[in-house]
Amino acid sequence: MISQRAQNVQPSATLKVTGRAKELKREGKSIVSLSAGEPDFKTPAYICDAAIEAINGGQHGYTMNPGTPELRDAIAAKLKRDNGLEYEPSQIICSNGAKQSVGFALLATVNPGDEVIIPAPFWVSYPEMTRLAEGTSVIVRTSFENDFRLTKTQLEASITDKTKVLILCSPSNPTGSCYTKEDLEGLAEVLRKYPDVIIISDEIYEYIVFEEKHVSILNVAPDLKDRVVLVNGFSKGFAMTGWRLGYLAAHPDVVKAVSKIQSQETSAPSSISQAAGLAAYTNDLSEVHAMRDEFKKRRDFMVQSLNSIEGVSCFTPGGAFYVFPDVSKYLGSKKPDGGSVETSTDLCLYLLDEFGLACVPGDAFGEPNGLRMSYAAGMEELKDAMERFKSGLNTLA
Ligand SMILES: Cc1ncc(COP(=O)(O)O)c(C=O)c1O
Repeated sequence: MISQRAQNVQPSATLKVTGRAKELKREGKSIVSLSAGEPDFKTPAYICDAAIEAINGGQHGYTMNPGTPELRDAIAAKLKRDNGLEYEPSQIICSNGAKQSVGFALLATVNPGDEVIIPAPFWVSYPEMTRLAEGTSVIVRTSFENDFRLTKTQLEASITDKTKVLILCSPSNPTGSCYTKEDLEGLAEVLRKYPDVIIISDEIYEYIVFEEKHVSILNVAPDLKDRVVLVNGFSKGFAMTGWRLGYLAAHPDVVKAVSKIQSQETSAPSSISQAAGLAAYTNDLSEVHAMRDEFKKRRDFMVQSLNSIEGVSCFTPGGAFYVFPDVSKYLGSKKPDGGSVETSTDLCLYLLDEFGLACVPGDAFGEPNGLRMSYAAGMEELKDAMERFKSGLNTLA
């Protein structure tokens, strides 16, 4: 009954641990979860108020398929204000989240058999969306040593005559790593040699950067603008994951193609969420910065705690709300019951079952030697989590 296409799609690999964590919690076990992919803050009140006003003001109908003119104007103004990028509102299409924007961008650009370069560790949806678009994922493993940033040599080596898209994600889920201006200049140098390669630049964590200002490939290589699909949204920076609002900005041909797909699959995002997004982009960013500052305190705590544990090392990520420590020294070790921990999935399941700590194994993201911990959790919970992690690792020999 089920199509081959649907059968080919893999369920989210993160579900194995998060599903088990929920089960254990239901059984009454004490569980600390560092598996969340969303901020633990509430959406700022001025954004909620704008949504309530939209409801009470009767904004109940369908909007234009690419989003309201007001919101697209505000996005264009934001791209100028925060990113120094010039886009016409007609080059912007709003969606039900950045996830939809990436998925539809792939559907709009990838032909069967085209290759999509995805640096690992990757966000779990990229390879599955590529599969749905009938493309072939080319996973390029980056290194702990280079803080998981794709190098220009790696990029050059992975491009073939079938390459259609490169996906960049900075700040990154799952590592928090951020590309520097110099990294992006190097990648742009290579991309100039391959004018048919499209770059999907996923910048959904843009507002959660700690030291350096966020830099987009378009800031260092404006000449690539016609083939960059810039993806962003409201979920992470404004703590609006449930509102389902994102967008992409791209060449008019890409926008037209995405718009056609969107008009047949989903239509525009919710009118109420769009009113909320308009408030988000037309007010100052002080609450966004307050959330970012809180994330930074937690990041510093996590990195320092992880690096104080024997056999664990963790680089300091520049953004997002994840740390991705190297736990390779514990792979191949023995549990007290004599069983062994071979993979990062084994390790995460052991920590969950015996110590009530939920993290996401690096296997899910294409990097078997690490695991992802989200610090979208309160400080007390993080302290508890680090105690559990340390105790769990201590039992392995
Ligand atoms: C890298 C990355 N891109 C896109 C998304 C999707 O964001 P949205 O909630 O806007 O669909 C996520 C969410 O986890 C993400 O981590």
